[in-house]
Amino acid sequence: MIISLVNQKGGVGKTTTAINLAASLTRKNCKLAFIDTDPQGSATRWHSIENNKAFEIKHHPRPIYPQDINGLSWRYDHVVIDAPPAIGDITKSILAVTDLAIIPLSPSPVDIWSCGKTLEMIEEEKRQNPRLKSKLLVCRKIPGTKLGREAKEVMDVFDTNIFESELCQRIAYMEAMDAGVSVMQYAPNSKAAQEVESLGEEIYTQTAPEKQTDESQNQYLEKPAWESPPNLYA
Ligand SMILES: Nc1ncnc2c1ncn2[C@@H]1O[C@H](COP(=O)(O)OP(=O)(O)O)[C@@H](O)[C@H]1O
Ligand SMILES: [Mg+2]
Repeated sequence: MIISLVNQKGGVGKTTTAINLAASLTRKNCKLAFIDTDPQGSATRWHSIENNKAFEIKHHPRPIYPQDINGLSWRYDHVVIDAPPAIGDITKSILAVTDLAIIPLSPSPVDIWSCGKTLEMIEEEKRQNPRLKSKLLVCRKIPGTKLGREAKEVMDVFDTNIFESELCQRIAYMEAMDAGVSVMQYAPNSKAAQEVESLGEEIYTQTAPEKQTDESQNQYLEKPAWESPPNLYA
């Protein structure tokens, strides 16, 4: 499955969520590739700190074309794509190949107001890519606050599904990023680790039956026609 983290706003937690979700899925023995399309390359930088072997990462700050991803989808269970903080050509191209677009959103009014354009672009892209599903993720929620408690209610204004799992604002996410590891490696018993594992489980359980019964529907899982498919890791 091709999973993308998209939101035109920076600082909402796309990269942090993408990295930790990818780590969580590899802990479930999923074979995973990671594409960092943000020109800032934060995920790539994180990966280089500890030369993390859990998954491969490619910095690809350009639009993604189906031929780029075809070979990857065939060789990996999941491809996680970290999108840049913009809704230009790169994000549009990502949505064209995505199965599940995750929109991390903090329960702050400014972040909620600024999310509309991203959701509009996703809805528009669904007409071209009927496989595309989208789901909001409460991210950077401050525990014990009214805004935090009411996050899902407020996000209900958007006609988009919301993950049960929520990622709170926790120092472990920042420290793990600084250390070049996932929160599960950094603080295995932390609430941050539990939150990420819960999100990984939610995605894993939703996609596992689909994989067993309906694999052929994903055109990107089909074996490419060429002998050595062009791919991002060439
Ligand atoms: N759940 C979280 N708890 C605490 N800090 C977070 C969390 N998610 C992200 N951050 C921090 O917020 C900043 C922006 O996060 P980042 O993942 O880079 O967002 P984006 O990719 O959307 O720009 C970073 O400093 C990151 O460490
Ligand atoms: Mg980012």
